[in-house]
Amino acid sequence: MDQIIVTGNGPLNGQIPIAGAKNACLTLMPATLLSEEPLTLTNAPRLSDIRTMTTLLQSLGAEVQALQDGQVLAMSSHDLTSTRADYDIVRKMRASILVLGPLLARFGHAEVSLPGGCAIGARPVDLHLKAFEAMGAELDLRDGYVHAKAPAGGLQGGIVEFPFVSVGATENALMAATLAKGTTVLKNAAREPEIVDLAQCLRKMGAQIDGEGTSEITIQGVDRLGGATHRVVTDRIELGTYMLAPAICGGEVECLGGTISLLAAFCEKLDAAGISVEETPTGLKVARKNGRVSAVDVTTEPFPGFPTDLQAQMMALLCTAEGTSVLEEKIFENRFMHAPELARMGAKIDVHGGTAKVTGVDKLRGAPVMATDLRASVSLILAGLAAEGDTIVSRVYHLDRGYEHVVRKLSGVGAKIERVKEQ
Ligand code: EPZ
Repeated sequence: MDQIIVTGNGPLNGQIPIAGAKNACLTLMPATLLSEEPLTLTNAPRLSDIRTMTTLLQSLGAEVQALQDGQVLAMSSHDLTSTRADYDIVRKMRASILVLGPLLARFGHAEVSLPGGCAIGARPVDLHLKAFEAMGAELDLRDGYVHAKAPAGGLQGGIVEFPFVSVGATENALMAATLAKGTTVLKNAAREPEIVDLAQCLRKMGAQIDGEGTSEITIQGVDRLGGATHRVVTDRIELGTYMLAPAICGGEVECLGGTISLLAAFCEKLDAAGISVEETPTGLKVARKNGRVSAVDVTTEPFPGFPTDLQAQMMALLCTAEGTSVLEEKIFENRFMHAPELARMGAKIDVHGGTAKVTGVDKLRGAPVMATDLRASVSLILAGLAAEGDTIVSRVYHLDRGYEHVVRKLSGVGAKIERVKEQ
């Protein structure tokens, strides 16, 4: 397994290009299953999760061609050969459950392995299943698979009331509803930019959708969907991650393709911490307003609140802030695994349940640390950028799931960072 070695190297300056959103691409790709016509995605990120979704779609008989070094995904589900998503693929990536809604809507039946949990939580899919039941589907859970069956006439429009916000369940239900007979209303729907991106793509394919980006989405089912070409929205989590690099190290970095609308709550917290964010014609320019960063309190919430996927990275910044910050993780039950690794670098963090209290220290010290999940891995790299000496991050395969060319992007703004084979 590879390791990444980061050495604190002073302020960073320059530009970092931000890729297309992993979490948009992972729901846009299964949308191809809804139609016989080709669906082409541009601005696709080059990530291992995208390759896993490609393998899954191909296992169903879909054609997926990665063109232009993987930035264009040309897909067609004209001749599917299976509606069964096997455990050996699904267990690698939970987002595989997003093929269930499209398969059920187009073919009337599907068998999808239940995704396992993962490091950050149990990750159940009960809300996905309740949504399909509200559209008339029969669901049978046995031998680790969801066996789903639509009524003889196909899925029926219905009212889906989510007891709490779920991004994936909203995406699955939205895709299924495009081909259901009649009208479907999703109440307490997720409002993430990735949901808006999916709805815009589905509309290009002929779907009739209103209200995406609000808590209530209404879908008028149609008989069939056509093809489309769609550009994947900018990755707001990669954007926020790289905005924290100059915040932690000093200097000034422009994140190309970023807009404040993708991350308003996050930008407000950066402002309160003493970080300036300026919208330019090509992206977001980020720099420290003055000396040391100030402590701020953070609570993760569904969009438009502070994103849970930026909690670990924000903690890395707050480890060297002036004062004490309190971070509350309200979305996942076990998302502080980066804390003990940051403590190995000298951070002072007290974790109790879903709350972490971070007391800022003057300087972190480089140390060997271990990545435990995707966002934790990059928070360790951010901390290493500002630490004294070398930080050696192991298990960086977590990183490859969500960050393309991280060494190249950070080296490009002056970071001392390299990827090596495990010593
Ligand atoms: C999506 O996961 C993202 N993944 C996650 O990003 C992100 O952290 C999460 O949304 C929240 O924003 C993708 O888009 C591929 P949820 P998802 O359903 O859809 C519980 C990353 O780092 N829940 O909004 O799985 C669930 O356990 C990843 O890129 C149920 O109980 O998240 C969690 O506690 C990590 N039952 C909460 O709801 C369900 O049926 C929110 O989960 C579904 C979810």
